[in-house]
Amino acid sequence: MQVIDIHNHFFPNSWPDLAARYGTPNWPWIKHTEPGKAEIMVGDRFFRHIYSACWDPEVRLREMDRDGVDLQVMSATPVLFAYERPVEHALDCAQLFNDSALELCSRGRGRLKSLCQVPLQDIDAACEELSRSMRAGHLGVQIGNHVGDKNLDDPGIVTFLQHCADEGAAVLVHPWEMLGRERMPKYMMPWTVGMPAETQLSVVALILSGAFDRLPSTLRICFAHGGGSFAFLLGRLENAWHHHPVARGDCLHPPSHYLNRFYADSAVFDRHALQFLVGTMGADQVMLGSDYPFPLGEERAGALIRESTLPQETKAKLLSGNALRFLGLKPEPNEGDKVSGAGAGSTPVAPEPGRLTYSSYLKVPELLELQQPQSSPIHHDELLFILVHQTYELWFKELLHDLDAVVANLRSAGKAPQSRDEVYEAARLLRRCTEITRVLVEQFTILETMLPTHFLAFRGLLEPASGFQSEQFREIEFLCGLKDEKMLRYHRPTPEAYASLKRRLEEPSLHDVFFGALRAMGKLAPASEGATERERFEARARAVHALYQDEHHHRDWIDVCERLTEFDELVVSWRLRHIQLVERIIGTRMGTGGSAGASYLKLTLDKKFFPELWEARTLLTE
Ligand code: HEM
Repeated sequence: MQVIDIHNHFFPNSWPDLAARYGTPNWPWIKHTEPGKAEIMVGDRFFRHIYSACWDPEVRLREMDRDGVDLQVMSATPVLFAYERPVEHALDCAQLFNDSALELCSRGRGRLKSLCQVPLQDIDAACEELSRSMRAGHLGVQIGNHVGDKNLDDPGIVTFLQHCADEGAAVLVHPWEMLGRERMPKYMMPWTVGMPAETQLSVVALILSGAFDRLPSTLRICFAHGGGSFAFLLGRLENAWHHHPVARGDCLHPPSHYLNRFYADSAVFDRHALQFLVGTMGADQVMLGSDYPFPLGEERAGALIRESTLPQETKAKLLSGNALRFLGLKPEPNEGDKVSGAGAGSTPVAPEPGRLTYSSYLKVPELLELQQPQSSPIHHDELLFILVHQTYELWFKELLHDLDAVVANLRSAGKAPQSRDEVYEAARLLRRCTEITRVLVEQFTILETMLPTHFLAFRGLLEPASGFQSEQFREIEFLCGLKDEKMLRYHRPTPEAYASLKRRLEEPSLHDVFFGALRAMGKLAPASEGATERERFEARARAVHALYQDEHHHRDWIDVCERLTEFDELVVSWRLRHIQLVERIIGTRMGTGGSAGASYLKLTLDKKFFPELWEARTLLTE
């Protein structure tokens, strides 16, 4: 695996006196102070200490070996952008540093590559310099995150980004000229506070302006420093987008829709932050960026990723695969990739990059990142607690998928009573639902291996999260016909969940569709106007009774009835086993959702989806 660092900087050992060259003051210059050390000055003002790694490829390569980095993609430094200067000066300056970057790369034994800079205040000149630089061997461009008052959604800058996509140039967006500097004169706050805000502003501007809707998905763009504050505040942005029309901007989709349109580097300096960033952006969108060799860079490039608890496969993506994609490079064949010792007759084929694999199809790395314990240090059993609940939710998803198909089949069966296929199909799918539910009943035993004391060790951290808030469980209830509008209140804080439950509440349920089909077959007479609920219930039970009485003609429908009854029965078993688990683990304590706990749950044991199917049994005589 080729480890690639996409965010690091260089300064040449020397460059012409720019102030004299352009006849204007305050250009950056390098002051060598002692062997291997220098200061970057801007006019008379000290800007930054640097050392020989900035200009000496041998030092760089030694430190890359020390850190286990195979390839660095270097950029100049924003202090050289000169976007506020006349374009001819900025262009000349860009060309000087672009050419010296390539000169440095030529001495890097194939392990140094570069991104160019362009005079972004003039889009034509910027596009031309980009094309020239790409022809000369740069892999893309580093741009500042704004040009004066123009954010990245400025039409000119969007045109430039389109040009980058056309040229196949990778774009690294670096914050600079930080906002509010007059209020941050001390403590490097422009770097620690201003830069993350600048970057967030750029991402948000690109999203909300609809620029991502217009730009091709082939644009490869990355935001430095983990994308600034963006990932952490995405929820806030998303909430504003959903609730305040004025906050929506011109984008076609909610902000989270665009996460796969850009990358962020890993320069966040904290294990939890990295985990969060990967969890938010996805394992394919984050890659190693160290900010080497500057004082705020990662001391050992890549250490944060390597020492994180991310799965190995995710680490490989962050250290290598994502950067290859971002830069448009092909992976270098390495010894490890050549499969050997596989035994006679079998020649395992190493998957080609970009082709579907077991992991990429099943999104295994993403799946394995979804367990985020609240306890710190992690309580051993919290992982089990999370995994068991997640497994339930996955099966709930499949149950909804199948129950929806059962509804569709029964609806069709009601429309074409002579056709048998849909009835058989409904029964087949219901069998799957019962088998899944059987597994769900069994699964509680795994959780019962957790001691009550162990659960209590982290239970306090979970409040007010509760099974009451399981949207899918409630959806299953609503879909089957147990509709309790009061339950919606637990979902008010999550508008999407609230909306989909409300829809389920209003849609015909499986119960409705099943009896609708019996009505269409002439087995159930339409209820008379003034009939009471009890009378309607009894009429439905009698219709089922009639099916069983005429078994010879209705085997298929009886099979559906049996499956529905079995499903009902198993859901009650689930409720019972859940109560036993609750009593075993927390006794008669209150629930984290505020209910009385086991005693409340016992009240749900009488709930049935299809009580008429049970009542019909009472009606049957010998
Ligand atoms: C240590 C294990 C567990 C305990 C102590 C526990 C406790 C409780 C309690 C007390 C309630 C009542 C609501 C409240 O006040 O919070 C509840 C509801 C619920 N729990 Fe659990 N639970 C556990 C495991 C599970 C598991 C593994 C699932 C699987 C999905 C689950 C799903 C639910 C659901 C769906 C409800 C709502 C039930 C309804 O409204 O009828 N619980 N749980």
